[in-house]
Amino acid sequence: MQPSAALTTAKSDFLPNLAKSQVRFPEDYQKTYTKYHTINFPATQQVRHYFANNAALQAAKDGKTVPNGALLLVEVHAAKLGADKKPVTGPDGFFVAEKLMFYTAMARDAGWGKDIPDMLRNEEWNYAVFTAAKQHRPGVNQAECLACHKPFDNTSYLFTLKQLADAGKPK
Ligand code: HEC
Repeated sequence: MQPSAALTTAKSDFLPNLAKSQVRFPEDYQKTYTKYHTINFPATQQVRHYFANNAALQAAKDGKTVPNGALLLVEVHAAKLGADKKPVTGPDGFFVAEKLMFYTAMARDAGWGKDIPDMLRNEEWNYAVFTAAKQHRPGVNQAECLACHKPFDNTSYLFTLKQLADAGKPK
């Protein structure tokens, strides 16, 4: 680590600034990924849609550690607001998505964790935030993502592993 660089660019005094992410935007996700989960966020008036590629879906279904080659992508939408300024709920019970704000993603591949300090490292996972135009959002410190997901090593660092496993099973 370079302490001087960290002091000038890090958002947090306690976390090193891990700006470099290997995650690439999966341009084909709408065709090839599985939408496995949705969550309403009333406080921020958002609804998030969760997508996984086959490598992630298959491993979760089989009860295996999610392997290299896996990618999870989250669409973060602003919810449509009604006349009362509250989110409008659709027939499926979820907020109606009005505007895609940004994406979050996590993915892993061989060697991607090697530059991450052990105290933060999530095996080979890297994290990214993409703008609505599918570009890396500047100024994202992966250290924050790594730190919060790190305790979940027994669920492949995913919060939504159970939903992913359920989505991979025959209905
Ligand atoms: C304060 C804790 C916290 C931080 C910081 C955090 N996450 Fe998460 N993340 C969560 C939680 C909780 C979920 C489960 C559902 C949700 O809230 O969206 C989640 C879910 C995800 C998912 C869906 C797969 C999964 O794990 O279930 C992705 C992708 C993701 N986060 C990416 C990121 C990225 C990228 C960053 C950093 C820019 C980040 N997260 C920072 C708590 C965090």
